[in-house]
Amino acid sequence: MGPLEGKVAIVTGGAGGIGSGTCRLLAGQGASVVVADIPDTKPSQLAEELVASGHQALGVEVDISDEAQVEAMIRAAVHAFGRIDGLHANAAATYLVQNDGLLSDVSRAVFEEAFQVNVLGTWLCCKHVIPVMIDGGGGSIVATSSIAATHADVERTSYGVTKAAIAQLMRTVAAQFGKQGIRANTILPGLIIHPATALLPDEYKQLILDNVATPRLGTPESIGSLVAYLFSDDARFLQGQEIRVDGGQYVLTTPRDASY
Ligand SMILES: NC(=O)c1ccc[n+]([C@@H]2O[C@H](COP(=O)([O-])OP(=O)(O)OC[C@H]3O[C@@H](n4cnc5c(N)ncnc54)[C@H](O)[C@@H]3O)[C@@H](O)[C@H]2O)c1
Repeated sequence: MGPLEGKVAIVTGGAGGIGSGTCRLLAGQGASVVVADIPDTKPSQLAEELVASGHQALGVEVDISDEAQVEAMIRAAVHAFGRIDGLHANAAATYLVQNDGLLSDVSRAVFEEAFQVNVLGTWLCCKHVIPVMIDGGGGSIVATSSIAATHADVERTSYGVTKAAIAQLMRTVAAQFGKQGIRANTILPGLIIHPATALLPDEYKQLILDNVATPRLGTPESIGSLVAYLFSDDARFLQGQEIRVDGGQYVLTTPRDASY
């Protein structure tokens, strides 16, 4: 019996790099998992793979920026598994990053879409899952933000600004619903390597590797294992926090490739 046996968790962006790793890890620890993602990613495929391995899972197609679709996702989760204990609010419009830009250059369309998905979408998921969690006796919400929430980027604007808003959203959930048994925490990942990010230029990956204080870069399991812990009862006193999972990036006083 795994530590999350009997718990039901929704992972938004569940078919993506970090999300799919988290779904597998949560299922492996006994949770019933709702893989929630946009139709193009075919979230049911991962759910079917999990079911074929003996786990409980459901795939749900959802655009988190559409309130009716978010409500339908919550209904589908409750219909399938009876309750919701955990929400990993992990979806983000990562496809926009290549069109993000300097504050003076980024288009209004990109800025608005980043807000629609990353901030409004995360808020909608919280808004509709919290009453269900309270009915069930409480729950744990974990948002995937980024180290871009606490440090500004020299090239991109909307990504970091929206990621900072997500951390404030989680603190707000903790402040407003903590007494009713809802915990909300934020994970700030550094560079996490999965099939899509593995395609980043080697020089970029090497630069980050040089400047973390670990031998290797992070993997989806680096995030998923923390999500699993935050969903577990062991984390019952962990509330409203931002937790960096970045291999210690920024603990160095000087960039490792600095020349004097
Ligand atoms: N990989 C990294 O290095 C890294 C670092 C810091 C933060 N993050 C954050 O981690 C999370 C997961 O990113 P990833 O690296 O796995 O990238 P990813 O692109 O694989 O995952 C993002 C997922 O969100 C989904 N999504 C996008 N718009 C959506 C919408 N409107 N409704 C529902 N789902 C939607 C995508 O389909 C995708 O599956 C994101 O929030 C990202 O910002 C990633």
